[in-house]
Amino acid sequence: MATPSAARGAWTSRTGFIFAAAGSAIGLGNIWRFPYTAGESGGGAFVLIYLLCVVLIGIPVLFAELAIGRSTEKNPVGAFKKIVPGSMWPVLGGLGIATGFGILAFYSVIAGWTLSYLFKAVTGGFGQAMTADESAALFTQLTGDPVWAIILAGVFILLTIFVVQGGVSGGIERTTKILMPVLLVILVILAIRSVTLPNGMAGVEYLFKPDFSKVNIQVFMQALGQALFSLSLGMGAMITYGSYLPKSENMPVAGVSVAFFDTIIALLAGLIIFPAIFSVGGETSGGPGLVFVVLPSIFNSLPAGNLFAVAFYFLLAIAALTSTISLLEVCVSYFVDEKEWSRQKAAWLLGGICFAIAIPSALSQGGSEFFTSFVGGLDFLSIQNIIWGNFSLSIGALLLCIFVAWKWGVPKAIESLEESGDSLPAKGLWSFLIRFVCPVAVGVILIFIIVTQQYF
Ligand code: PHE
Repeated sequence: MATPSAARGAWTSRTGFIFAAAGSAIGLGNIWRFPYTAGESGGGAFVLIYLLCVVLIGIPVLFAELAIGRSTEKNPVGAFKKIVPGSMWPVLGGLGIATGFGILAFYSVIAGWTLSYLFKAVTGGFGQAMTADESAALFTQLTGDPVWAIILAGVFILLTIFVVQGGVSGGIERTTKILMPVLLVILVILAIRSVTLPNGMAGVEYLFKPDFSKVNIQVFMQALGQALFSLSLGMGAMITYGSYLPKSENMPVAGVSVAFFDTIIALLAGLIIFPAIFSVGGETSGGPGLVFVVLPSIFNSLPAGNLFAVAFYFLLAIAALTSTISLLEVCVSYFVDEKEWSRQKAAWLLGGICFAIAIPSALSQGGSEFFTSFVGGLDFLSIQNIIWGNFSLSIGALLLCIFVAWKWGVPKAIESLEESGDSLPAKGLWSFLIRFVCPVAVGVILIFIIVTQQYF
């Protein structure tokens, strides 16, 4: 007879966990959002603050989530139920599951754009010169096509369902173990190519030489928000993935490895994009259009630019897929654990509903007038990002810190992190950060986005 944990599934090794969790963390956040946020917020100064946020806030919160998952071996709702039965805390797990679902419903739309660009690149579409205006027009044309936007978001959700229904080790681990090394190889090749372009080093300098005159509270907030999103924190993805890690594996090493890869890959993405932009004298402050509008306008000026484009959008699609897998998995794990649904039923049903909810976002970039200017002039997709990606994620992360630090207690969390017999380095520091620094910092972010209405 299968043991309970065999029925839920588990990673077959620590490396399996690292590939899957790094796959969750590494996504559009690293390759699409990190470079454009850095470009808007002063390059090197942002990067430096981002690194501080990862070390002082991201890693401690990541450990808190992993500790809960590892100790309970449950989905986010089940985990809180197990630790504090009969309390309101499972609602926090429920918020996490709703957040995963909400993020998947707009993330898959952006992921769909990567498929259109990949298709365009494969068919040689970036082989000829394109002005900035032509590139912007192409973006509007591709993302604003209602039928294609819906189909491609659907294709992405379908791919996600296929992987998730295959199970923890047979689906997720197996897929990420192939895709993550492919991703890393393409990234490194493209980064080398980009850095060695004429004037490429100017892009490297832009990324690593801080200009402190650019630092202000908003840059801090952007960096912290980006760190939370990029490490997939605040919605229980790491509770869920941590719950599949066998107790014999060294959790602190696994956790730090995930944060390390996530950060390195964001930096590598910057090393692809900025040197390429500098080498052709383009603009760094392209905002969300940086990889979809600015890059296409420079491919033609790069040697073998169309090949560069194929590799780049393929990479972006892989990164997005390994993240959408984790978003769906959080929801699936809840229905498998708590409602005893089969994994197949949960994956197909939830994926299907998510697709339906993705449709308004897919139509919000020009496909439908109504969803393009939905509330307060904002499009539906942006509103989804504000609700789920900003508010829900920050509220989740804040309450999670409070839970671990003040309800469950630091000693219990440390016990869970050390369950394999390997000790957690710098325990005193972690305890200080999770009790005071993390909740205060995340609390400030929340107040900031409420007061200024500037989102990340
Ligand atoms: N970390 C992912 C990225 O950088 C996004 C994500 C957030 C995935 C939350 C899962 C949970 O793109």
